[in-house]
Amino acid sequence: MTGELADYVALAAIVGVVGTGYFIFASFAFGAGYQPTPGGAVTSMLALAEVGPNDRVIDLGAGTGAIVFRAARHRGAHVLGVEVEPIRVAILRLRRAIGGPRDRVELSWGNLFDIDLRRATVVTCFLWPGAMERLKPRFEAQLPPGARVVSHWHKVPGWVPEQVDLPHQVYLYRWPEAGRAGAG
Ligand SMILES: C[S@@+](CC[C@H](N)C(=O)[O-])C[C@H]1O[C@@H](n2cnc3c(N)ncnc32)[C@H](O)[C@@H]1O
Repeated sequence: MTGELADYVALAAIVGVVGTGYFIFASFAFGAGYQPTPGGAVTSMLALAEVGPNDRVIDLGAGTGAIVFRAARHRGAHVLGVEVEPIRVAILRLRRAIGGPRDRVELSWGNLFDIDLRRATVVTCFLWPGAMERLKPRFEAQLPPGARVVSHWHKVPGWVPEQVDLPHQVYLYRWPEAGRAGAG
């Protein structure tokens, strides 16, 4: 390998490592890094929450849309995906533009802690424990009775799940029962 070629290879490797690191870890500062929800966990989340055409789902931290598009396409729900990282927002917009359904997928580039949850019937999340801790008072203040929260990996602290799928690390909560059970 010539010296010049070696320089290009080294530069490409550095750009690749830095770019991948940015893509996965930069959003840690906001509440979670990036890791797509595995397919089996998505299936379980949507099944446990019994997501259907009458639901308004909010995916907090939508990533590249693993939950958003499955809920809209396979379950017929209206879905709002909220994502803070701009490259993932661009991917989400591209996926909606190419595959739709445009009338049932709404996308918001912004901070999930600013989202109004009062119209949600189902909230989905795959976030870090600190984010779940911060979300809990927002859930309790804003979720309408009967709303389901379904989380992959991390629990809502202090709440009691109605159902747990341990192999897929999925926790289903129903508000306000989950909060009352936790208080008692
Ligand atoms: C573990 S990924 C989950 C991705 C997605 N829910 C899925 O099903 O594949 C968490 C996502 O939350 C996003 N995120 C983290 N903090 C956020 C915040 N405060 N507001 C909006 N999005 C956030 C990250 O950028 C990342 O894409």
